Amino acid sequence: MKNPMALLLLLTILISLQSFSAFSYEFQVGGTKGWIVPPANDSKIYNDWASENRFQPGDAIRFKYKKDSVMEVTEEDYKKCNSTHPTFFSNTGNTVFRFDHPGLFYFVSGVSGHCDKGQKMIIKVMSPDESSSHGGKSSAADLPLGVSKLVFAQFVLCYAASVLY
Ligand SMILES: *[C@@H]1O[C@H](CO)[C@@H](O)[C@H](O)[C@H]1NC(C)=O
Ligand SMILES: *[C@@H]1O[C@H](CO)[C@@H](O)[C@H](O)[C@H]1NC(C)=O
Repeated sequence: MKNPMALLLLLTILISLQSFSAFSYEFQVGGTKGWIVPPANDSKIYNDWASENRFQPGDAIRFKYKKDSVMEVTEEDYKKCNSTHPTFFSNTGNTVFRFDHPGLFYFVSGVSGHCDKGQKMIIKVMSPDESSSHGGKSSAADLPLGVSKLVFAQFVLCYAASVLY
């Protein structure tokens, strides 16, 4: 019979998808635009971008840029655009920063004047509890429901086939 094999394949795919979502994820900061000085009329692009995404411990963000740099700073230094003592610095043009704990992370450009023009960003990394009480839990709950629907459909089909033939 073809159908049980197809179901098995589907289940395997679904299960691997589900466990895949538990792995860490990498985000590219600012999407395709990368890490740039924002346009004058749109200086909040990075915090807008950050608020559209959900970050968890283990996730990473990638900064792509030219002739610029990335710094992680304290909240106070973020507010003042003070880049004199960052806790993290990189200017390779392709920087990956991995979040090792939940909480707030503050990033600025280390190039003079860029942070003042809005090249800065706050990232909120959710604790695993927080994130599962939002998006995570509902998608996990959807999956078994989808599977049981499929199993039910399969059962109905098999039953119909056995009655007909
Ligand atoms: C900013 O200005 C550019 C060109 O002047 C325009 O194309 C763009 O739509 C503006 N963006 C916003 C958010 O106003
Ligand atoms: C930046 O921070 C350092 C150390 O806290 C301080 O000495 C310096 O004056 C600050 N610079 C500005 C521009 O606030």
